[in-house]
Amino acid sequence: MTRPGDATRHYNARMEKLRIQGGRLLSGVVPIGGAKNAALPALAATLLTEQEVRLENVPAVRDVDTTCKLLQQLGVTVQRPSPGVVVTRGSGSTDSEAPYELVKTMRASFLVLGPLLARTGHGRVSLPGGCAIGARPVDRHLDGFVRLGAELRVEHGYVEARCSRLRGAEIAFDVPTVGGTENCMMAATLAQGVTVLRNAAREPEIIDLAMLLKRMGATITGAGTDTIRIEGVDQLHGAEHRVIPDRIEAGTYLIAGALAGEGLELINCCPDHLQSVIDKVRDAGVQVEVLADSLKVTRPALTLPVDLRTQPYPGFPTDMQAQFMVLMTQARGRSVIREAIFENRFMHVPELHRMGADISIDGRSAVVRGRTALSAARVMATDLRASSALVLAGLLAEGETVVDRLYHLDRGYEKLEIKLTAAGAVVQRFRE
Ligand code: EPZ
Repeated sequence: MTRPGDATRHYNARMEKLRIQGGRLLSGVVPIGGAKNAALPALAATLLTEQEVRLENVPAVRDVDTTCKLLQQLGVTVQRPSPGVVVTRGSGSTDSEAPYELVKTMRASFLVLGPLLARTGHGRVSLPGGCAIGARPVDRHLDGFVRLGAELRVEHGYVEARCSRLRGAEIAFDVPTVGGTENCMMAATLAQGVTVLRNAAREPEIIDLAMLLKRMGATITGAGTDTIRIEGVDQLHGAEHRVIPDRIEAGTYLIAGALAGEGLELINCCPDHLQSVIDKVRDAGVQVEVLADSLKVTRPALTLPVDLRTQPYPGFPTDMQAQFMVLMTQARGRSVIREAIFENRFMHVPELHRMGADISIDGRSAVVRGRTALSAARVMATDLRASSALVLAGLLAEGETVVDRLYHLDRGYEKLEIKLTAAGAVVQRFRE
């Protein structure tokens, strides 16, 4: 029997780097994996039952390993019988603490608090703290739990939540929050009475989580809209569920195709989930062919500048901002990119400067002037999506680019160098 984490044992990413020879065209087929940001809440949701839950199409990425370890620490047995499959079975153990050591490496660990509170009446989770892209507080999660009747104690960097039985409530988010919507929706499934989430996040990952919860016996309507209604039930049971394709992985390879594609084909994806990205890439003059569960992309002779503002779904996703900025370095002209979701999500810009990009930052806006021929350099990843943007830049840059701190990349991209190599790129992972 494999242990959680075996599936991705290959990376000891602390020392590993990627070496990229730029200038190759990309063609052939890239298989898109399961969505990290759907798999993580789905794994947290397994805490809502002691019965067996089987998840399929779970990506072999580090954040999944971290979550599986956290579930085990919370008394859940976790098996990974084959690639993409995670089978969990809850235990009666009442150990309901998510320690700082784990939460600090992955904010999404905070998603276990809602399920723990709902099923065991108690949860103690380290506050996630900030990260490279911003403060990322969890006040909206906590406000939701209080409205559901939980008593909170925040001390020593931990949140302790207690409640004998949660009660349905009206929760209105002042600004949509993906994690807050997920945490409160999970908690509300076992509350007494009806909960209504207003100004809820509308991401496809919310719809996918609601689908899993309904398969577990929850009563939920409105997922995917800004108003979600949950009618609490006494308990949830086991279920089977296949995680949706990763729209950000697909978007990342779409940009790779926009930069260097010759009929590059992305399969096993869900084009509907990245319509706003497809629209902006087409505005840039890129030819994108959309089929039922695949995309085909070829780089244009001339890339056009496009202004952009990141927004909650269905707007342009913040998780695609860094990747799109690389495309804009190849556009003839000036484009303005506004990051409206996170306060510090331009960490890729200094690294792109070192590759010759002409980008100036003014608060939450970046002005990109193209076209610039990027030149290879040693660059350093700072966060998950910034690191994928540096890889994209390396695909173009004349010479050999080395991307350091791959542990950022391995959090959310499965076998990225293998998929790119299969499409014609020259990318190697090595240890220095
Ligand atoms: C999710 O993070 C994603 N992570 C992020 O993807 C993604 O960038 C983000 O949603 C926005 O789409 C997962 O799904 C695991 P939010 P989350 O709560 O839930 C503020 C990646 O690269 N806020 O929607 O943390 C917050 O600071 C990651 O895969 C509060 O102020 O995002 C941010 O500015 C990066 N108080 C904004 O709202 C709160 O209580 C959106 O955050 C919660 C959020």
